[in-house]
Amino acid sequence: MTAANGGRVALVTGASRGLGGVIARRLAADGWAVAVNHRSSAGEAGAVVERIRADGGAAEAFAADVTDDTEAPALVERVADRLGPVTALVLNATGPQPAVPVEDLTWEAHLDQLRFFVKSPTLLVRAALPGMRAAGGGRVIQIGSDIVDRAPPGMSAYTAAKAAQFGLTRTWARELGPYGITVNLVAPGWIPVERHAHHGPEDIAAYRDDVPLGRMGTPEDVAATVAFLASDAASFVTGERVTVNGGHT
Ligand SMILES: NC(=O)c1ccc[n+]([C@@H]2O[C@H](COP(=O)([O-])OP(=O)(O)OC[C@H]3O[C@@H](n4cnc5c(N)ncnc54)[C@H](OP(=O)(O)O)[C@@H]3O)[C@@H](O)[C@H]2O)c1
Repeated sequence: MTAANGGRVALVTGASRGLGGVIARRLAADGWAVAVNHRSSAGEAGAVVERIRADGGAAEAFAADVTDDTEAPALVERVADRLGPVTALVLNATGPQPAVPVEDLTWEAHLDQLRFFVKSPTLLVRAALPGMRAAGGGRVIQIGSDIVDRAPPGMSAYTAAKAAQFGLTRTWARELGPYGITVNLVAPGWIPVERHAHHGPEDIAAYRDDVPLGRMGTPEDVAATVAFLASDAASFVTGERVTVNGGHT
């Protein structure tokens, strides 16, 4: 644990780009030492770390497949060795989210999503638990989705896994509350990131027209909610889902 961050060490999974990269930068700006996890995009993760350091923050990149039984717990240990025990765990990483109509839906398609939103959170929470208990508390922040409310056709595997992720949040909040560990879920609407570059202005306009607040959400909107849930100000908030979608649902 470094003196500079006062024991505030955040591990953000899938932080080499997209929402995770911006969440990592926001937590670092708030004084957290941030572990920037990625699986394969070392260059992008390095750029996130460089930007945090240039802004005066503390960060380090950690490559690991967070869905892997061995690599996930090893990641938590490596972060503890380098930065200190993880006291905020932001479960953000995702793989591809293909549309699969029910006629073609396989168990393997379900597992592809469950690995990210049930298996990986389980491996990482289990690994981080001793450190959080020793620290007298901690934060688990899951990045879910408002897709559970919108339920678009073809997206049942992703939607089911995201619903399961909220089930974990509710149960773990009750189990871990006695240790001072809060567990919450942030549910973004469509927040355009790098992987959405192929969507044209018509797609954006069609979505935005249905958003009561009349604009697209930004990664910074999501990061601000994560930052709140990670902060001392949210110490009495647990088991909640905070939807960040401009009122879309
Ligand atoms: N953006 C949206 O509109 C939106 C809406 C609702 C919910 N969400 C949720 O927000 C979260 C982030 O989404 P995003 O849009 O920011 O995703 P993204 O841009 O596709 O980024 C995914 C991140 O996960 C990493 N990753 C992939 N497989 C990994 C693995 N096995 N182990 C570790 N890291 C891995 C990627 O890094 P590497 O390339 O290095 O592997 C990348 O940093 C997800 O949980 C998603 O479901 C997003």
